[in-house]
Amino acid sequence: KHLLIHDHLNRPLRDLRISVTDRCNFRCTYCMPAEIFDQDYVFMPKEHLLTFEEIERLARIFVQLGVKKIRLTGGEPLLRKDLTVLVQNLMRIDGIDDIGLTTNGVYLVKHAADLKKVGLKRVNVSLDAIDDELFKKINGRGVSTKAVLKGIEAARNAGLEVKVNMVVKKGMNDHEIIPMVSYFKEQGITLRFIEFMDVGSTNGWNFEQVVSKKEIFDRIQAVYPLEALEPTYFGEVAKRYRYVGTKTEVGFITSVSESFCSSCTRARISAEGKLYTCLFAAKGFDLREVVRSEISDEEIANAVTEVWNNRKNRYSDERTEETVKNRKRIEMSYIGG
Ligand code: GTP
Ligand code: 5AD
Ligand code: SF4
Ligand code: SF4
Repeated sequence: KHLLIHDHLNRPLRDLRISVTDRCNFRCTYCMPAEIFDQDYVFMPKEHLLTFEEIERLARIFVQLGVKKIRLTGGEPLLRKDLTVLVQNLMRIDGIDDIGLTTNGVYLVKHAADLKKVGLKRVNVSLDAIDDELFKKINGRGVSTKAVLKGIEAARNAGLEVKVNMVVKKGMNDHEIIPMVSYFKEQGITLRFIEFMDVGSTNGWNFEQVVSKKEIFDRIQAVYPLEALEPTYFGEVAKRYRYVGTKTEVGFITSVSESFCSSCTRARISAEGKLYTCLFAAKGFDLREVVRSEISDEEIANAVTEVWNNRKNRYSDERTEETVKNRKRIEMSYIGG
């Protein structure tokens, strides 16, 4: 039976984003800067990670509380051994409409066909530039765009729907907006622009580095006219458009210029099992301790209900110079974006 639960702002719990590892094969300058995430950086030890059984058990409980959509994230989720098996297990849960995967794409060459075979329908691939030299710098590991583009191709050949995510940071890659648009428009692939956000405290974020949706939109519109589309579901993160005369879409994720907290139905579980009710939360609720004790599913459901009922988060609505400076926030690679 479904117990629909709501938070303080009357938002239901609908989406669950599960991070499966805090590791990544990239060191994107705005997410895991190589100077900080170096060989001395302590990642989560294996025994701290939720096992697939624990993740599946928690997912079932969340589905009972109203979750319909699950997204697997990281770090880089495909670094987690046998991720396909987890997808297969999650696909079997009754009541889940949609499972997604957010990845940097490099390992799709290896895994796309198997992911499709177990029932995955779509992947979101991050790519911040089409220029090879620039992309090598941004990802901090000298990885060529070819590696990602091959991953995208493998996913499409396997029959997975692909969307590309581009984080835009002023002075880093804003001159790549039109080249990215031209490239992916030609391929008929949805490209989504993400406003650079102040997640974590290691990426040196400030307001001046944000390129707003309006700026990006205007630049595209001058070359390729766009028309707005209706949201496909309540609380959709991206604002969607399509190039006039085509079926190809462009999206904007406007956490900074037009926050979308009032319809935020997302809960997040970190790889070590902490439950967060906002991407910008400072503290999580320890679900690992709970699943590793003798507590029943019903008691876990009650604990999650209490956390959700008490939820007041609306960080992006409240963002100011002061919150950026003074509020403690977890890292993107830890919470999975
Ligand atoms: P779809 O189901 O394909 O629409 O996925 P999605 O856009 O929800 O997920 P994805 O992992 O591709 O996220 C794209 C960007 O949106 C990332 O930068 C996320 O951090 C950001 N994002 C997703 N959900 C939220 C949210 O609740 N708040 C904020 N501020 N950003 C979010
Ligand atoms: N601001 C906006 N998006 C970010 N991502 C990582 N760090 C940030 C940030 N500070 C993006 C990744 C990926 C998605 C999950 O989040 O590039 O596309
Ligand atoms: Fe890895 Fe994605 Fe972060 Fe880049 S943005 S370091 S690919 S988790
Ligand atoms: Fe949801 Fe927090 Fe993002 Fe607002 S800032 S949309 S509450 S995750």
